[in-house]
Amino acid sequence: MTFDINLHFNSTLFKPTDFYSTNPPGFEPHPNPIAFDGGRPNNGFYPIESIQVNLKSKPFDHTISNDPVLITEVSEDKDHELDIKTALQYGDAKGSRPLLNLVDNITQQLHHPKHTLGLDYLLTSGSGDSLTKILQAFLSPGDTILVESYTYTPIFAPITTLGGVLIPYKVNFTDGDSIVDINYLGNLLENWESGEYKHLRKPKLIYTVPTQNPSGLTQSLRIRKSIYDLAETHDLVILEDDPDSYIKLHNLESFDNYLAQIKNESYLNLDTAGRVIHFETFSKLISPGIRLGYIIAIPQIIERITKVSKIFTKATSGYSQLIIFNIIKHWAEQINSKDNISLGYFNWSYKVSLEYQSRKNLVFSLLSSSKSLAKGYISLVEPDGGMFFILPVNFPFTSNNEGNEDYTAEWEKLRLISVKNGVKFILGSLMSFNEKDSQRAKFARITLANEDDLNKIEVGVNRLDQSIVEYFEVESQK
Ligand SMILES: Cc1ncc(COP(=O)(O)O)c(C=O)c1O
Repeated sequence: MTFDINLHFNSTLFKPTDFYSTNPPGFEPHPNPIAFDGGRPNNGFYPIESIQVNLKSKPFDHTISNDPVLITEVSEDKDHELDIKTALQYGDAKGSRPLLNLVDNITQQLHHPKHTLGLDYLLTSGSGDSLTKILQAFLSPGDTILVESYTYTPIFAPITTLGGVLIPYKVNFTDGDSIVDINYLGNLLENWESGEYKHLRKPKLIYTVPTQNPSGLTQSLRIRKSIYDLAETHDLVILEDDPDSYIKLHNLESFDNYLAQIKNESYLNLDTAGRVIHFETFSKLISPGIRLGYIIAIPQIIERITKVSKIFTKATSGYSQLIIFNIIKHWAEQINSKDNISLGYFNWSYKVSLEYQSRKNLVFSLLSSSKSLAKGYISLVEPDGGMFFILPVNFPFTSNNEGNEDYTAEWEKLRLISVKNGVKFILGSLMSFNEKDSQRAKFARITLANEDDLNKIEVGVNRLDQSIVEYFEVESQK
């Protein structure tokens, strides 16, 4: 099928308004005009002269090195250095040139689409913002969008608020080769006109999180290829939201092993038509408070989403761009990789992965010898990547008045025991937008990310174990 992206955009005409005049072609303006036009304060008005950032050498290492990042007010090379004067000024809607170059450099190393349409980039205020902007460019009220049956809950509201309708496709919490039920998805699309959702429009968008949230399982190449093929057959645009893709939990013996894992693993690498929109974020590796991420897609798509961004945000935070760019550049200099700045970033994400791996290993060794597991109260599903995993609890079959499987009341009892014992988790039921999937959810989502150290994590796992045993003992006496 020939892919025409214009058929997927909604009909909203995004036309940013501006008051700058353009000169006729060929007109030669004065080379050094005095700028009485835009309201862009001279950098002399900004209070910041320079910024010094002290970095940890690896996560949780609080010793300050004597090698700070020094960010100056003005620098010479505008393509490869981001200075205070530029970053704090009103910026280009797409993002500052040095950071866009860095993002291009990251992309060149990790993603190799099979089409020749090229890729372009838009900086955003994180992946949540990226999704909202993409939806604004594509969704019309009443449009449907395919979403994994359990996923990152905060994405439901932007979709429904913009008038979209979420359609679940089944995920399994087994290995990456069956994590998405491809047969279900294929049948759903193939038989749309006669199926459960026949009263709704056929989807033109599919949203997926390849390093799955909540389970931390990752989609195998077979699954990604199958989903891409379905996208080709049914003319879907793939929204690939993979904020945890840099956090790997296996094969971290060397940096090279790690690098091999993060390369060529996205949907972008399978893309022959330009139908993949991939978005990334600095939230998980540098910090969520910095609110910076980016979208990667073919130029036509970026052009449209940039208009949305120009109208609603102007540009993403200059401070954030300044700090992130200079930190990553500094990391690259520390490992003598000035010509390939991305390596500095990957080197940090490798160190972050190592920390998550040691947390995951501790948790799973504790759970393996837990009373809950010995008594058959829980099952273990070990994650491949990211900062989350699921803990399935083997409740005896419970159903509601309609006869449907429903563990809501049992979860609430277990949750309250756990809160009393001093451990918190996310209920699997809250990671679904579909009532039946919500009721039959038998897992809790646990994060490896929040706590200070391994000691606290150990205390948490012991409390969890104790709470689950307590719940089953109380229930068995009823
Ligand atoms: C799947 C997914 N998408 C988006 C986000 C939000 O990321 P950001 O902080 O970049 O907005 C998260 C954060 O946990 C996430 O897990």
